[in-house]
Amino acid sequence: MIFRLGILVILVLTTSNISVFAFPGNDTDQQALLSFKASITADPSGVLDSWNNSIHFCQWNGITCSPRRQRATVLNLSSQHLVGTFSPHIGNLSFLRGIYLSQNNFHGSIPNEIGLLFRLQNLDLGLNSFQGGCPPNLSNCADIRNITMSHNNLEGKLPTTFASWPKLYWFDLQENHFTGSIPPLIGNTSSLHFLHLRANNLVGNIPSEVAHHTKLEVLCLSLNYLSGMVPRPLYNLSSLYIFSLTQNKLKRTLPADLGVTLPRLQGFLVSANRFSGPLPASITNASDLTTLDVVVNSITGTIPNNLGSLPNLEWLNLGHNPLGDSTRPDDLSFFNFLANCTHLYHLGLGQSGLRGQLPNSIINLSTTIQLLFLYSNHINGSIPREIRKLKNLSVLSFSDNLLTGTIPESI
Ligand SMILES: *[C@@H]1O[C@H](CO)[C@@H](O)[C@H](O)[C@H]1NC(C)=O
Ligand SMILES: *[C@@H]1O[C@H](CO)[C@@H](O)[C@H](O)[C@H]1NC(C)=O
Ligand SMILES: *[C@@H]1O[C@H](CO)[C@@H](O)[C@H](O)[C@H]1NC(C)=O
Ligand SMILES: *[C@@H]1O[C@H](CO)[C@@H](O)[C@H](O)[C@H]1NC(C)=O
Ligand SMILES: *[C@@H]1O[C@H](CO)[C@@H](O)[C@H](O)[C@H]1NC(C)=O
Ligand SMILES: *[C@@H]1O[C@H](CO)[C@@H](O)[C@H](O)[C@H]1NC(C)=O
Ligand SMILES: *[C@@H]1O[C@H](CO)[C@@H](O)[C@H](O)[C@H]1NC(C)=O
Ligand SMILES: *[C@@H]1O[C@H](CO)[C@@H](O)[C@H](O)[C@H]1NC(C)=O
Ligand SMILES: *[C@@H]1O[C@H](CO)[C@@H](O)[C@H](O)[C@H]1NC(C)=O
Ligand SMILES: *[C@@H]1O[C@H](CO)[C@@H](O)[C@H](O)[C@H]1NC(C)=O
Ligand SMILES: *[C@@H]1O[C@H](CO)[C@@H](O)[C@H](O)[C@H]1NC(C)=O
Ligand SMILES: *[C@@H]1O[C@H](CO)[C@@H](O)[C@H](O)[C@H]1NC(C)=O
Repeated sequence: MIFRLGILVILVLTTSNISVFAFPGNDTDQQALLSFKASITADPSGVLDSWNNSIHFCQWNGITCSPRRQRATVLNLSSQHLVGTFSPHIGNLSFLRGIYLSQNNFHGSIPNEIGLLFRLQNLDLGLNSFQGGCPPNLSNCADIRNITMSHNNLEGKLPTTFASWPKLYWFDLQENHFTGSIPPLIGNTSSLHFLHLRANNLVGNIPSEVAHHTKLEVLCLSLNYLSGMVPRPLYNLSSLYIFSLTQNKLKRTLPADLGVTLPRLQGFLVSANRFSGPLPASITNASDLTTLDVVVNSITGTIPNNLGSLPNLEWLNLGHNPLGDSTRPDDLSFFNFLANCTHLYHLGLGQSGLRGQLPNSIINLSTTIQLLFLYSNHINGSIPREIRKLKNLSVLSFSDNLLTGTIPESI
């Protein structure tokens, strides 16, 4: 039985155990999808050629339907070189759970009609040229888990409707032009695991409410204009494995128990800020650490000898900090211990006030080392001949030191 009616009619026949939904809905899906197609101006790989009346829309490229109802549940046209705008008719695809349009060339605004999709769980619009703001009606999508709008030209303030998204798991707005501060209301969603706000124009303090997300795994706020102190409770988020605040205007000391309270850290990146005080020796308690980058700050004191107990360390960049300790003229002993970091490939110690004789143990650094920066220090002595053992070196920078002797030919 087919009922073609202009208005919504739901007829339920409950005889003989079967429910038949005679519903103009599936035609609505088809019409809405054809309207979506009509706002695509270029489809060089012909992915939408199959979107025609000769086959059922559930067989069209990029469409997944619910098996029983035959309603469109997923629209996936990621990486298809599409050019065009995002049709507001999307709002009629009321069974959609997932929209994936990343890596295309969509421009114009993100339609506010997206807020009609109350079943929506995943929205991925990353790597396009969308403009305008985050659509306010997205707050109506109460089941949303993953929002990705990264790498677009979006602007305006960040949304404040987090309380409407109790299941929000992934929130990625990086590489846009968002302004204003991070709203404290970000603490009003309860399942956040990934927060990416890198490379926007955000200002103000990091709200301590971010620390409500005790399951947070990735916090990436780098390349903004955030200032003030990092709220202490943020250092207590024990599930964090990426902690990245690179290039902001943040200040004050790093907590002494950093590596104990953040035991799962793989990347700790706070370069180009105004952090001061010593590098906490407890960092070595985070034994999964691969990347430690604190370059360009005001970190003082000696380099902890136990960094060598981080077996997975690949990237160690401590340069451009006043680390040298003039009361201990020979503070290069940590080189002896770095030999245990068998994956190290970047060691950055340029302009860090180091003084003393270049230790021979430099030849025992892992042969994985590719980039070695020791420029602009007060290092004396000579370059050991066996430096040739570091056979994967591609950049060796010793300039502006007090080194004497000859450059070993073996280099
Ligand atoms: C709509 O549903 C009816 C009954 O389930 C079916 O016969 C018809 O082919 C469907 N139309 C479309 C365009 O999917
Ligand atoms: C409609 O789509 C089918 C399946 O991709 C294709 O074979 C057919 O050529 C298309 N028809 C038109 C008119 O584009
Ligand atoms: C979307 O489609 C692409 C292939 O075109 C596939 O690689 C990707 O896994 C799909 N994404 C989802 C979430 O289904
Ligand atoms: C949804 O469908 C109805 C009826 O087919 C139509 O009047 C309306 O304009 C559509 N809305 C959108 C947002 O496409
Ligand atoms: C946005 O949501 C408001 C309130 O729920 C509603 O009145 C309005 O029609 C929606 N706009 C669109 C374009 O869906
Ligand atoms: C979205 O989030 C869920 C958690 O709710 C996660 O398990 C899933 O992998 C994510 N899906 C996509 C397609 O990103
Ligand atoms: C956000 O959470 C705070 C308490 O954590 C509560 O007082 C406030 O009412 C909530 N706001 C919204 C909009 O839900
Ligand atoms: C961090 O957690 C520890 C132990 O759970 C607790 O004693 C301490 O008060 C917390 N610190 C902050 C700043 O939340
Ligand atoms: C942290 O590491 C130090 C040695 O580097 C060790 O003495 C201490 O017990 C560790 N703490 C925890 C909580 O593992
Ligand atoms: C380096 O590894 C050796 C052998 O596993 C171990 O005896 C030594 O204590 C380690 N050194 C450091 C600084 O962790
Ligand atoms: C380099 O390491 C080897 C083996 O651990 C050791 O015997 C040697 O003394 C070390 N050389 C220097 C210069 O530290
Ligand atoms: C290097 O400088 C230190 C003082 O910083 C001095 O004790 C040592 O003798 C010097 N070594 C050489 C080889 O000049």
